[in-house]
Amino acid sequence: MTQNNGLGENITFRTEGLTKNYSSGETVIHALRGVTVSIPKGDLVVLLGPSGSGKSTFLNIIGGLDSPTSGEVYFNKDKLSDYSEQQLTAFRRHNVGFVFQAYNLVPSLTAYENVELVTDIAANPIQPEEALAAVHLGDRARHFPSQLSGGEQQRVAIARAIAKRPEVLLCDEPTGALDSETGIVVLKALQDVNKKFGTTTIIITHNAAIADMADRVIYFGDGQVVDVKVNENPCPPEEISW
Ligand SMILES: Nc1ncnc2c1ncn2[C@@H]1O[C@H](COP(=O)(O)OP(=O)(O)OP(=O)(O)O)[C@@H](O)[C@H]1O
Ligand SMILES: [Mg+2]
Repeated sequence: MTQNNGLGENITFRTEGLTKNYSSGETVIHALRGVTVSIPKGDLVVLLGPSGSGKSTFLNIIGGLDSPTSGEVYFNKDKLSDYSEQQLTAFRRHNVGFVFQAYNLVPSLTAYENVELVTDIAANPIQPEEALAAVHLGDRARHFPSQLSGGEQQRVAIARAIAKRPEVLLCDEPTGALDSETGIVVLKALQDVNKKFGTTTIIITHNAAIADMADRVIYFGDGQVVDVKVNENPCPPEEISW
């Protein structure tokens, strides 16, 4: 199964000519039309692009939630696009943390217990105290989701996502439901986690200003990557003008 991706050790994901078609009845939707792109290890990457341009489709495929119609996906040296369902499940379980717009916390469990759900089953977890401290919620561990603000709940979701020490953290509009001030605190948590644990982090957003905090910005348009920009000096989220 292991194949060389033709690149150095420093690339986490590489896709080659990735396409994804969805068919509904007679019509075929070309969600991805040949995406070739690399994501360096440890980078904080922002994906930008209009609604329907294929960002979520791309993220779901590299995260092993969906399969491409054609083309190749490499995770490190492994060809993810050749994985069986079983291998994809194992890949997601061990290597990927997901954060979505909806926090999906268990309401009857405290912040600590929500994170513990993951640390109980992970091979080499970050303990709940440390994961919550990394998102600056060490003092709220005993609170239930209903006692936390939206931004705090999203930070619990981030703590939960990183607690299994995944190599990659994939975030689809993590600040989509938040006001700017709260969104910045959540972005700060993501940047801190990226720096502290070296987690390769990919963030989809509709807010172009968030690109300023990224190491790399990938612009999607009509199912393709239309531009990639490398930021030599990513700014701290608190300096983003929202
Ligand atoms: N399960 C599906 N079945 C049919 N079409 C789909 C499906 N998922 C996505 N699409 C279509 O594929 C295209 C790309 O969708 P995608 O969700 O990747 O875009 P996006 O860039 O994430 O958009 P947004 O910013 O609105 O979230 C769209 O035209 C969408 O309608
Ligand atoms: Mg989307």
